[in-house]
Amino acid sequence: MTAALDNLCQELAEEFHRDPRGKRVADLLGRYAEEWREWTFFETEGYTRNLVHRCGEFELLLLCWNTDQTSPIHDHAGQQCWMAVLDGVVEEVHYREKAEGVVEGAVRRFQKGQVAFIQDEIALHLVRAGAGSRGVSLHLYSNPIDGCRIYEPQTGESRWIEVGYHSVRGELCGAKTAETVRSEWA
Ligand code: SIN
Repeated sequence: MTAALDNLCQELAEEFHRDPRGKRVADLLGRYAEEWREWTFFETEGYTRNLVHRCGEFELLLLCWNTDQTSPIHDHAGQQCWMAVLDGVVEEVHYREKAEGVVEGAVRRFQKGQVAFIQDEIALHLVRAGAGSRGVSLHLYSNPIDGCRIYEPQTGESRWIEVGYHSVRGELCGAKTAETVRSEWA
């Protein structure tokens, strides 16, 4: 039951071989609509990061957002990040690092089929479920990200964290870190 997801990963791999900037990625993600439900896991403690595919050029994850769940404010470790909404509403809030801390910028709402893009040159951001909504989003990081910097909203202080996966190809794995999965798949 993963043919459509596997086809998408194949098309994404071909796209990155042709063009490392991934000009067609937003289009490919925005058109994707099938087969993802069986690989989604919602939790009460926080949003979940569920790995679909990982290779040298990119990783593809399904993120599941319960109402009111939010990511920390974070950077993207120098990588490109696309986010396509598959269900519900997902919001993104931009932040800039200033002497006085992190300052909130644009707030954007994305609905099913819409695709956002971010990299460190654009802004820091947080991602959250849209007000009163749950959401599922498909995230592509190129290259894969094993960790990132997270920021305190009040003080702007930051620290590096390792990021983990809640499931890998539909199998729960606890909060296995990205680095463990990378070495297992190498
Ligand atoms: C995450 O990957 O955990 C947060 C969402 C994002 O930055 O796209």
